[in-house]
Amino acid sequence: MSFDGKVAIVTGGASGIGEATAKLLAERGARVLVADVSDAAGARVVSDIESSGGSARYLHVDVSSRDDARKMVHHAIETWGDLHLAANVAGIGQTPSRLHDMAESTWDLIMNIDLKGMWHCMAAEIEHFLSRDGGAIVNVASGAGMRATVGQPAYGIAKAGVIQMTRQGALEYAKDGIRVNSVAPGLIDTPAVKALPDNVRALYAAGQPGGRMGEPLEIAQTIAWLLSDEASFVSGLNHLTDGGWFQMSPA
Ligand SMILES: NC(=O)c1ccc[n+]([C@@H]2O[C@H](COP(=O)([O-])OP(=O)(O)OC[C@H]3O[C@@H](n4cnc5c(N)ncnc54)[C@H](O)[C@@H]3O)[C@@H](O)[C@H]2O)c1
Repeated sequence: MSFDGKVAIVTGGASGIGEATAKLLAERGARVLVADVSDAAGARVVSDIESSGGSARYLHVDVSSRDDARKMVHHAIETWGDLHLAANVAGIGQTPSRLHDMAESTWDLIMNIDLKGMWHCMAAEIEHFLSRDGGAIVNVASGAGMRATVGQPAYGIAKAGVIQMTRQGALEYAKDGIRVNSVAPGLIDTPAVKALPDNVRALYAAGQPGGRMGEPLEIAQTIAWLLSDEASFVSGLNHLTDGGWFQMSPA
C-alpha cells in the first residue's frame, strides 16, 4: 500500500492515534500536514518523520474554528500543490458525568471539538476535493458513539454524530469521487491511558475481550487502508477496530 505522490492532512496528528497515522502515512510515501493545537508535540512528530526520511509540516489548527480548518487545507495546497487524503482524528474526552447534571460548558466544549470540529474539517476538505477529481476522508469516531457508555454522554452523542456525518458525506459526494469513512476504535493505549496508574491500566486491559488494549498503530492501519485505493469501493462505512469489544455484553 503506497501513498507515493499523495498529500495528506492528519488532524490531532501530534499525539496518540493521530501521531501513529501521520507517521504511517509518511512512511508509506505521503507528504503529511500534521494539524494540532499542541505545537511542541506537533513539531516533534514532524521531526521524527523527517529523521526517518519522510516529508511533513506542522500547522497550529484548532478544529473548532472554521477559519482554522480552511487555512489548514490551503496550507497543504500551498505547500505541496494539492490535497488527496484527510484523516480527521482530533478529539477530546469529557469530564465524566451523567446526562442530567453535565455542565453546559462540558456539552459545548465536546460538541465544538468532537462534532462541529469534524464538520469544519470535512467541509474544508470536500470543498477542495470538489475542485479536483475527488479524494478520501477518514473520520475517527468511537465505539462510544455506537452504544451508551457510563459517564460519557456528550462524547458518545458527538461520536454518534460523527458516524452519521460520515454516512451523509459518503452519500452526498459519491458522484464526485469522494469517499468518506469512519473508524470506531475500542480502548486504545494512547498517552492519556499510558499516564494512568499501572493497576488501573491492568484493570482496563483485563476488561477487553483479548485481555489487552489496542495500540495506536492498529487504528492507524485501519485508517491507512480506508484512505488507500485498496478501499476504492468502500464509502460510508463505520469500521470497528476494537479487538471485539463491541460484541461483549455490557457489564
Ligand atoms: N484512545 C482511545 O481509547 C480512543 C477510543 C475511541 C476513540 N478515540 C478517538 O481517537 C481520537 C484520538 O484520540 P487519542 O486517544 O489519540 O488522543 P490524544 O489526546 O493522544 O490525541 C488527540 C490529539 O488531538 C489534539 N486536539 C485536541 N483538541 C484539538 C483541537 N481543538 N484542534 C486540533 N487538535 C486538537 C490534541 O492536542 C492531541 O494531539 C479522538 O478523536 C478520540 O476521541 C480514542
